[in-house]
Amino acid sequence: MSTIKVHDKTFATFLSESAINEQIKRIAQEINTDYKGKTPLFIAILNGSFMFASDLFKELDIEAQVCFIKLASYQGVKSTGNVVTSIGLDVSLKDRDVIVIEDIVDTGKTLHDFLPQIMDQHPSSLKIATLLHKPEALKYPLTIDYVGFSIPNKFVVGYGLDYDGLGRNLREIFQLAE
Ligand code: XMP
Ligand code: MG
Repeated sequence: MSTIKVHDKTFATFLSESAINEQIKRIAQEINTDYKGKTPLFIAILNGSFMFASDLFKELDIEAQVCFIKLASYQGVKSTGNVVTSIGLDVSLKDRDVIVIEDIVDTGKTLHDFLPQIMDQHPSSLKIATLLHKPEALKYPLTIDYVGFSIPNKFVVGYGLDYDGLGRNLREIFQLAE
């Protein structure tokens, strides 16, 4: 097992590039099947999900659209509990099949706060796809439709996820070492 340093903390290898790609292909196949004949609108939540959104999107063989919003609740390695929107939605969701793309669902607060804003616009359907999910950290009731990996409640970086701005460019996902 190899370790890396991001700012002051040490992280250990956790999910390999090939394991990540394999799960993304599996989720894309499920979406290709579930949305056959439809044109879903993906809403990717910035910043963390940009890499997952991009790789997932390339695997789709159905018609699809993507847009981005910016929400954040994290500072350093802890959730602040406050979700701030800094780039809003610029497309209508009315009668659309919406799929929200997250890098990670931790406490569920981000989605719990954001999903009602989507529902207000009366989409025809709403599903959630997340690369990572920490079931032990979940504090808000949420149904997640597509999950890449369920992981232990430890802070992770890489593949779009950051620790205070750094680590997003890593091709693998690393876990905070004790
Ligand atoms: P909540 O608690 O709202 O958290 O479900 C979702 C958002 O928090 C960030 N997050 C993390 N970022 N490593 C990160 O780099 C983590 O282990 C982690 N856990 C949560 C992330 O931005 C996510 O969208
Ligand atoms: Mg995020």
